Amino acid sequence: MKKSIITYKSPQDPISEAFRNMRTNITFANIDDDLRVLTVTSTGQSEGKTTIMANYAVALAQSGKQVLIIDGDLRRPWLHKLFEMRNRRGLTNVLLKEADIGDVIQQTSVGNLQMITSGPIPPNPSEIMASKRMAETINTLKAAYDFVLIDAPPIGVVTDAAVLSAVTDGYIIVAALSVTNRDGLKVALDTIKNVGGNIVGVVANNTPQTKRSGYYYYSYDYSYDNESKQPLTRQEKKQKKKMKRKHQ
Ligand SMILES: Nc1ncnc2c1ncn2[C@@H]1O[C@H](COP(=O)(O)OP(=O)(O)OP(=O)(O)O)[C@@H](O)[C@H]1O
Ligand SMILES: [Mg+2]
Repeated sequence: MKKSIITYKSPQDPISEAFRNMRTNITFANIDDDLRVLTVTSTGQSEGKTTIMANYAVALAQSGKQVLIIDGDLRRPWLHKLFEMRNRRGLTNVLLKEADIGDVIQQTSVGNLQMITSGPIPPNPSEIMASKRMAETINTLKAAYDFVLIDAPPIGVVTDAAVLSAVTDGYIIVAALSVTNRDGLKVALDTIKNVGGNIVGVVANNTPQTKRSGYYYYSYDYSYDNESKQPLTRQEKKQKKKMKRKHQ
């Protein structure tokens, strides 16, 4: 397991304490809601979604809750890497009816914490996330765990996180300080509100700039561009540049 899962590696560290506070705050801030399926997203890429979600999940599991984390980022799956687990089969295999749910659930090295990795990356992630089968799968899992956490791609970039609103009890937005400006954050919050989503918290993350350099929202290694499987037109390129400037 990577050292960035600090709640597991160094539970006494003040950062781990911060994740325990996050656990408490989210629990108490939503005392009357039954929040069990939580989707984690952010405005843009590399703001720390996966890292924050993994640490939050460990903090929940350490409090005795049965927790399942799902890699719902079918574009840049990373959860299995953080926990150093295999991703031969996962969510997409279940959605394509190639595997049963039970076959793809893996136990992590943290007690009470299980994982479904992304599985092979599909050509049409948004459609897959919006499918009836996805909703059924999440609802089945919800019945078996105290918490189901879904790591989703950035909501300011692709629709995958938003289309999960029907199965998501609450969204957690991760905002990298110094990257997400107020307008960018507003776009994310409005997108969630527009699909009737419930925002349970915004987590400010202090990612160092160097970690993010080289792969911004619309950089080429992000498979968002592959969705249409067509090269971008000049107009689309212009639009992307504009969006990028807007979110920076
Ligand atoms: N608070 C932090 N301090 C230091 N490094 C951090 C912090 N948060 C995240 N990182 C690092 O920044 C990088 C991006 O983090 P992470 O993968 O969690 O972001 P993400 O939003 O899930 O990215 P993606 O959009 O690719 O899914 C990783 O290398 C991670 O270890
Ligand atoms: Mg991620």
